[in-house]
Amino acid sequence: MSQIKIFDTTLRDGEQSPGCSMNLKEKIEVARCLERLKVDVIEAGFAIASPGDFESVQTIARTVKECSVASLARATVKDIDCAWDAVKDAADPRIHLFIATSPLHMEYKLKMTPDQVLARTSEMVAHAKKYVSNIEFSCEDATRSDTDFLIRVVDAAIKAGATVINLPDTTGYTTPDEMRRMIEAVIAGVPNSDKVEFSVHCHNDLGMAVANSLAGVLGGARQIECTINGLGERAGNTALEEVVMAMHTRPDIFTEHDCRIDTTQIFRASKTVYNIIGQNAPLNKPIVGVNAFRHESGIHQHGVLANKKTYEILTPESVGVVIDNIVLGKHSGKHALASRLKEMGYELDDAELQRCFEEFKVLCDKKKSVTNEDLVAIVTHQAAANDEEDVDGYKLEWFAVHTSNMTTSTSVVRLSLDGQIFEEACSGDGPVDAAFEAINRIMRPVEHTFDVYNIAGISPGKDTMGGVTVKLTCDDRTFTGRGLHTNIVEASVRAYLRAMNKLRAYAAKRQRTNPSR
Ligand code: KIV
Ligand code: ZN
Repeated sequence: MSQIKIFDTTLRDGEQSPGCSMNLKEKIEVARCLERLKVDVIEAGFAIASPGDFESVQTIARTVKECSVASLARATVKDIDCAWDAVKDAADPRIHLFIATSPLHMEYKLKMTPDQVLARTSEMVAHAKKYVSNIEFSCEDATRSDTDFLIRVVDAAIKAGATVINLPDTTGYTTPDEMRRMIEAVIAGVPNSDKVEFSVHCHNDLGMAVANSLAGVLGGARQIECTINGLGERAGNTALEEVVMAMHTRPDIFTEHDCRIDTTQIFRASKTVYNIIGQNAPLNKPIVGVNAFRHESGIHQHGVLANKKTYEILTPESVGVVIDNIVLGKHSGKHALASRLKEMGYELDDAELQRCFEEFKVLCDKKKSVTNEDLVAIVTHQAAANDEEDVDGYKLEWFAVHTSNMTTSTSVVRLSLDGQIFEEACSGDGPVDAAFEAINRIMRPVEHTFDVYNIAGISPGKDTMGGVTVKLTCDDRTFTGRGLHTNIVEASVRAYLRAMNKLRAYAAKRQRTNPSR
């Protein structure tokens, strides 16, 4: 039985896609989920991209103990040195360097000849090898490269010391059959191919990333690169949950392959990532969508009642989805809450459980029954609120909004800071805009961009809580605030205030360290 290694790049390829940027605490939260999932490698970022990226790769390298931690680097001395600096404290550090090998990329992007690319490959892999033995080398745009040239580059990389060879479908262009043939051809063509592991890294532009990755495995690849929820550049990357569950569900095809992922942690990891980026899974998203285990049509329901296997190829429990047969409500105690959370994979300490229980009770007064989706939102929201306690700042005293479809919306917001009260009245385009304007007038933020305002219903029904995510950016840093409430204006106000307090704390620190700004 050969092990398929799971290389997760949510924090690098996933995080670099629009709307998915995360701050350090969020990245650490994702890294912890990945460790619980038992991925083999966490690509924690692209250390040279910015000081913030360096800091997060380094922090994750120092935090994670159970998996290898990698940083991406272009094939340059500066990138490799920086990547090594960031990962060197990891239990099992890896440098992942890449260079493009397709004619298009070499001519127009790199402005290098094939021979120069070949020489650079040998030099840079050898340079990285001075630091660490665990070296992954990627031929960017491999699926649009000439196979004979690929073989020469891969041979050079192996000779210089690479231990993992990744052949990415950078543009999501290939098909399963083509992918399998490419991997087979390179493995057959390179003399020392049995001394290294081959890897696939697929993008989903044509919706084939998972299929292409699996085809790569059948062709001989032993590592799959993927992201939680398939996040990633453009249409995303191979979704971890899909590719892992495909191998798990079809042992007849993947007879000789296994991976060490704890599939019961999949749902939790997916939810955590969706909550952080302020999105919900599309209803029909495989494995983790709300409808993934629902049977609506009469014929299907009838079949499932007679025998689940008629329409269910995998069980919700296998991916950590707990079906709420016993509905929690206002008569449920802390014990019932703790045991449901435990079933769902959340082990909380006493203080965390107490805070969640309080929020649960408040919610029970507003909703008849509290669903598992609500519980996940409460736990995630509590974790974020704890982080935010580190940030001193303005507190919400109260707010009032007036809105109609005939008049301009107005708001009054009262905030306090160190015992002082501040109040502003504003108008705006809708109640949220009016309330945000009043907060702006009180807090007078430094220059920033308002990147994301996202509102997502947490569970079915009109009494659902709204989960609001706000993301602001300043100096390449992201400041995220989340709010959770059955009143969406309140959820929005709280989310905005949290993001603004983080921005304010950062601006004050920046002013202290660099008073000229
Ligand atoms: O898609 C790609 O080619 C990449 C490489 C840098 C591995 O992300
Ligand atoms: Zn990629």
